[in-house]
Amino acid sequence: MYPFRQGCYAPRNGWYVAAFCNEIGEDLLSRWILNQPVVLYRTSTGEAVAVEGRCPHRHFPLGESKRVGDAIQCGYHGITFGADGKCTFVPSQQTIPGVYSIKSYPLVERGLWAWIWPGDPEQADEALIPDMTDIGFDLPGYTAIPCHSLHVEGRYQLLNDNLLDLTHLGYLHAPSIGTPDDAATPEVREVSARKISSKRYMYGTPQTPFMQERNAFDGKIDRVSGMDFHLPGFHAGIGESRIPEEHPTRGGELLHASRVWHAVTPAKRYTTNYFFAMSSNDPDGLEHARKALAPVLDEDAFATAEIEKMISTLDEIPPELMLKSDATAVIGRRALQAMMDAEMEGPAPGFGKRGQAG
Ligand code: FES
Ligand SMILES: [Fe+2]
Repeated sequence: MYPFRQGCYAPRNGWYVAAFCNEIGEDLLSRWILNQPVVLYRTSTGEAVAVEGRCPHRHFPLGESKRVGDAIQCGYHGITFGADGKCTFVPSQQTIPGVYSIKSYPLVERGLWAWIWPGDPEQADEALIPDMTDIGFDLPGYTAIPCHSLHVEGRYQLLNDNLLDLTHLGYLHAPSIGTPDDAATPEVREVSARKISSKRYMYGTPQTPFMQERNAFDGKIDRVSGMDFHLPGFHAGIGESRIPEEHPTRGGELLHASRVWHAVTPAKRYTTNYFFAMSSNDPDGLEHARKALAPVLDEDAFATAEIEKMISTLDEIPPELMLKSDATAVIGRRALQAMMDAEMEGPAPGFGKRGQAG
């Protein structure tokens, strides 16, 4: 499906963010992930687990069921499944055949996030989780916080496209985090096997409206803005502003530095779980930034939902007008399509061959 080949909407063999760690507690948390119902919770030992959210008996949602110790007891006829997915109790019979089970997903907590592998568990290699140093998570002097967990009414690739093309900052987010220079400045791009990086270096550029509010400096600045896409659904951004070198007394002084992390995880085929987190060298400003960025994320969610409505209503999606600035997004789409093509050669459990799934 758009913008991928028919039958494709997201790679399954990859680590996606299922939740912020602090969202997972004793209570059952229901979440759709790659069109699969999932239930997340923490066992009595504190371990976060993810199991299938559908009872295999009559498809009752296990997220609407109840915990009995570390197990989930289906709210319909009482079949009970342990945290490893194995059936432990059937009220109406003594024997429990081994096939009575639900899926249990690989889940790893790292940084602020709980990472899930929705595809073939045999291929779930923890080394493929984005490296915390590489994403700027453990920078000395920085404080990191989870900020917003959103449900967006649009397919996940629309959000990847959004984050791979920051020329929208000065327009969709004109009142807050962008200026026209975000679009007018050429990108410096680096592409490797599982990461696509794009950066813009702006010199003597106007401050964004948000910077003007916070920075103790009036005038043009030097600014770096960039985003690293860690396939298949994690974007690590960098923002830095400095006083230009030419300034007589404060040249090169760092005004503000932050890291932002956007995790986009397909929920259903046409909806997305969107997790936004950030860190800054200014811990006092973090809570202010968290609140101030909520309407900015709403603008992206609005654009995504409107585009989803448009493309899912048209009889046929016409070819897109492609700009030079679309190069990074196109590279991202191709890389994701290649991951999906590789999966279709050897399908992961629960996913048919090309053309059979959506
Ligand atoms: S639907 Fe779950 S026990 Fe019947
Ligand atoms: Fe945006």
